[in-house]
Amino acid sequence: MIKDGFGRIHDYLRISLTDACNFRCTYCMPDELMQFKPSAHLMQVEEIDAIAGMFVRMGVRKIRLTGGEPLVRKEAAEIIRVLSKYPAELTITTNGSRVHEFITSFKDAGIRSVNVSLDTLNHDKFLQVTRRPQFQQVWDNIQLLIREGFHVKVNAVMMKGMNDDEILDFVAWTKDQPVHIRFIEFMPFNGNHWENEKVVSYKQILETIAAEYDFVKLRDDANATAKKFKVYNHEGTFAIISTMSAPFCSTCNRMRLTADGKMKNCLFSKGEVDLLTAYRSGQDIMPLIEQCVIEKEESLGGQFTKDYEQIDADALTNRSMIRIGG
Ligand code: 5AD
Ligand code: SF4
Repeated sequence: MIKDGFGRIHDYLRISLTDACNFRCTYCMPDELMQFKPSAHLMQVEEIDAIAGMFVRMGVRKIRLTGGEPLVRKEAAEIIRVLSKYPAELTITTNGSRVHEFITSFKDAGIRSVNVSLDTLNHDKFLQVTRRPQFQQVWDNIQLLIREGFHVKVNAVMMKGMNDDEILDFVAWTKDQPVHIRFIEFMPFNGNHWENEKVVSYKQILETIAAEYDFVKLRDDANATAKKFKVYNHEGTFAIISTMSAPFCSTCNRMRLTADGKMKNCLFSKGEVDLLTAYRSGQDIMPLIEQCVIEKEESLGGQFTKDYEQIDADALTNRSMIRIGG
């Protein structure tokens, strides 16, 4: 069992398969011409397998594949297959554009739940946010996942003046489809033009929905980041991920592995531990993993003040989101 200095048990590993993506979401990628890591610097399939295997032996019970966009990694299907042998729940967060090519891989690997990022229900706005014209493909793939019986969560990063006028449209979507919308508060990362005025807070989201709908609070899982709700008589649910206004660090069980094999103990941690280089030189990585988690800060990588409205985004030390892997 992996425990940090505050007694939190860490049994969830998020593995980034690549820092590349076929979209260019403004809040995630610093600029259009970003250089991606050459593939020799990435963990190779056997290395992902071996390192993930070590985490599982140390008590990890859930693995999520992330990116960039995990499904643009050439060996994505193979990685999904090799990781499926472990006694850990396997899940994935994707931008949805290539899901139709992977449905069989997902099923064969026993993946039951898929998170798709979709920030708007409007074609034009989709193009503005992602800088790619693939709304229809993503939409069709969400429908495909629902038809095929997957538990589908839709991640929508809320930004003032961009998509906060669509909150009710997202909730309306949950009426007739078993889709689970997650409104995410906009977070600051290297180069993503974050300003506190752009954050649409948990409270604002809930008030907007309350003006139109009656809903109930659902019970959240022990380590959940999302606070879940359901409108009466709706098939799906909605949830809010309040990283900025009400962080959920006290129940955090998450560790991250970047595509180039660096371990991060928090999305906002300044430091990283180079597991891949250690693994390649034949070192035992278990003590490195333990040490990394022991050094975990109590909250938000120790980088933010309690009040997000006081944050100076330029003073943060971190990778950009796309290089960390959501
Ligand atoms: N703030 C909040 N969420 C973000 N994501 C990417 N960048 C940010 C940000 N700056 C989301 C993506 C994806 C998930 C992995 O993280 O939309 O759904
Ligand atoms: Fe790609 Fe997701 Fe980042 Fe958008 S948010 S650029 S889809 S990795």
